[in-house]
Amino acid sequence: MDIKALVSQMTLEEKAGLCSGLDFWHTKPVERLGVPSVMVSDGPHGLRKQDEKADHLGVNDSIKAVCMPAACATASSFDRDLMGRMGQAIGDSCQHEKLGVVLGPAVNIKRSPLCGRNFEYFSEDPYLAGEMSAAYINGVQSKNVGTSIKHFAANSQEHRRMSSSSNADERTLREIYFPAFEISVRKAQPWTVMCSYNRVNGVYASENPWLLTDVLRGEWGFKGYVMSDWGAVSDRVAGVAAGLDLEMPSSGGINDRKIVAAVKSGELDEKIVDQACERILEINYRYLDNARPETPWDQEADHQLSARIAEECMVLLKNDGILPLNKTDEVVFIGEFAAKPRFQGGGSSHINAFRTTSAVEAAQGLPVTYVQGYSAARDMATDEMIAEAVQAAKAAKVAVVFAGLPDAYESEGYDRAHMAMPACQNRLIEAVAGANPNTVVVLHNGSPVEMPWLGKVKAVLEAYLGGQAVGIAAVRLLYGDANPCGHLAETFPVKLSDNPSYLYYGGEGNEADYREGVFVGYRYYDKKEMPVLFPFGFGLSYTTFACSNLRLSGAKITDQETLTATVTVTNTGSRAGKTVVQLYVGDRESTVLRPIRELKGFEKVELQPGESRDVTFTLDKRAFAYWNAAIHDWHVETGAFTIEVGQSSRDIEVSGEVTVESTVALPRRYTADSIFMDVMADPKAKEALGPMLASIQKAFAPNADASDTAQEAISADMGLAMMRYMPLRGLVSFSPDKVTDDTLKQLLDALNG
Ligand code: BGC
Repeated sequence: MDIKALVSQMTLEEKAGLCSGLDFWHTKPVERLGVPSVMVSDGPHGLRKQDEKADHLGVNDSIKAVCMPAACATASSFDRDLMGRMGQAIGDSCQHEKLGVVLGPAVNIKRSPLCGRNFEYFSEDPYLAGEMSAAYINGVQSKNVGTSIKHFAANSQEHRRMSSSSNADERTLREIYFPAFEISVRKAQPWTVMCSYNRVNGVYASENPWLLTDVLRGEWGFKGYVMSDWGAVSDRVAGVAAGLDLEMPSSGGINDRKIVAAVKSGELDEKIVDQACERILEINYRYLDNARPETPWDQEADHQLSARIAEECMVLLKNDGILPLNKTDEVVFIGEFAAKPRFQGGGSSHINAFRTTSAVEAAQGLPVTYVQGYSAARDMATDEMIAEAVQAAKAAKVAVVFAGLPDAYESEGYDRAHMAMPACQNRLIEAVAGANPNTVVVLHNGSPVEMPWLGKVKAVLEAYLGGQAVGIAAVRLLYGDANPCGHLAETFPVKLSDNPSYLYYGGEGNEADYREGVFVGYRYYDKKEMPVLFPFGFGLSYTTFACSNLRLSGAKITDQETLTATVTVTNTGSRAGKTVVQLYVGDRESTVLRPIRELKGFEKVELQPGESRDVTFTLDKRAFAYWNAAIHDWHVETGAFTIEVGQSSRDIEVSGEVTVESTVALPRRYTADSIFMDVMADPKAKEALGPMLASIQKAFAPNADASDTAQEAISADMGLAMMRYMPLRGLVSFSPDKVTDDTLKQLLDALNG
């Protein structure tokens, strides 16, 4: 198909029309030229495809589909292959349902535990989010169906979501809020990108040329088309010019007419409209030319796949020897989520699951009884319900409480107000734990909660929102048919106010200032040496593992070279299992403020008891670099870096050191206001100061080299400090060499070469 030739046959009106949706879910056809329309649908963890009777708000029931675990869960798998398999299954279902693009993955950073959509997002860590996202995209797109990575960019709150401005400095955007998109574009080339509702530093993402064109296409090489989030368009003409190709959903022709008028008035170059059409049609035909509606969709098989994925995601947070349970013991499952699990979140990702399997159903055949404990919908527990639960707990060997957040507590559209579990559930857990020391808690929630009862229960299994087959996975893990292997993709802080965005989250009016900068999640908690409830990367197993023998390929590299780090991981327990080997890099000596450690590699490893395996990571410049806003580029500062390997951000088992040398000289310009400390740190400039340095040093600290007494040493230190912080212009007043304005000017010329 010659797309350019096709577009050249279109009228301006047809082209402008193609740049917005036909309705809620379709691109426009151009019947005159035989161009069909293509359907897109949510996404991301299964299909929310509305049938032909779709209402204009897109909220009516969708077709029966398979609800896979949400991203909060799948990120905890730290398993790229697993994400790929899930993507493939979703890709097949799209082919079956004649969908050209599935709207996801959603990769925004979990800046605060409060974000209402955290359940759909992967992580507080950009590298992990990017790797999981790229694996998912590659999986879906291997089936010739597109993805729409969303929401680009800095869309980390729901509060005022269509007007708020995410105000972050350049370095914070580049290091924290962009990389998940960047990694996905570079590694998986998503067919489409969905821009976010919010503004970024004042400019709507939907009309932000820096975001949609300079960075996305110019720097990262994105080749597909950009679509708007549903209703994210403010100024359509500015959007087209900025690189927003497709407006979704339909604007009833109003915005199309604005595009036509802008071209006619000369405000908008028609070539830009052509380009948008070409991009949209390229992608549409990539799907149409490869459409395979005969692809079978075995929902039963996907239900089982969903159970297997959930099993790889759940995180065992605590286990005082009570798990796995014994299949002959009398066990009581307490809590409505045991019978009616909360397995997905609310909003556009909500799936009409064709079936769900609860833990109660999955435990059939085992000596398990069930009591309700609380009502999730009414968010209450009567005294009778609690008394019944206590009674049942007393009679059983083990009590397993299925608890978590009811639907209303977290959803697309609004943020949480606190991090607490429902009071009735906390009360229930305390009461049950008081009645039976063998109490286990299984949690169904999309983001972290406080656990006031943690010290009173023997085990906690974090199931997250585990998809429609969550009960199968929970029971297999509880009884040891499977071994827990999920690790947290986010920190669980002790309390909400520990979170770095706590003071500013949500913003004032429409201004949401990302004042914590790059110190998001563990980057902050580690720097502050703060206790956390559960650290990033943490997860227990029914066996134990140890990392040892870290080998680095060199002690010194340049920023053009790569470093390989190899570590041995051993299953030191008595069961087969999987762990997540995590590699963190930290800049030991840096003039910029940097986190203690940042995740730069991970590998999920399966080992038999006693088995060992070597895991190798390759680190390039990016693993060591920070974003330098002065040169608008990644930069490595010459110096020592730590390489740490372990099984969580707070469980570093082996570490080493490498010196990385920069091959990039940062441009420097000295002025009369430059201070001595900075000049002296630059060897060339220090040399240019020549004898002037020695004489000014002598003036400020005459005894610096030969202090006889402690008092003299102190005053020499003081003198040197005064000098270090003095601007060069101070030479005129303080130098014994009688420096004039002219000599200062000559000096600056020499310094600046
Ligand atoms: C959401 C998107 C979603 C779209 C279509 C929007 O409200 O933010 O994530 O893909 O609706 O349902």
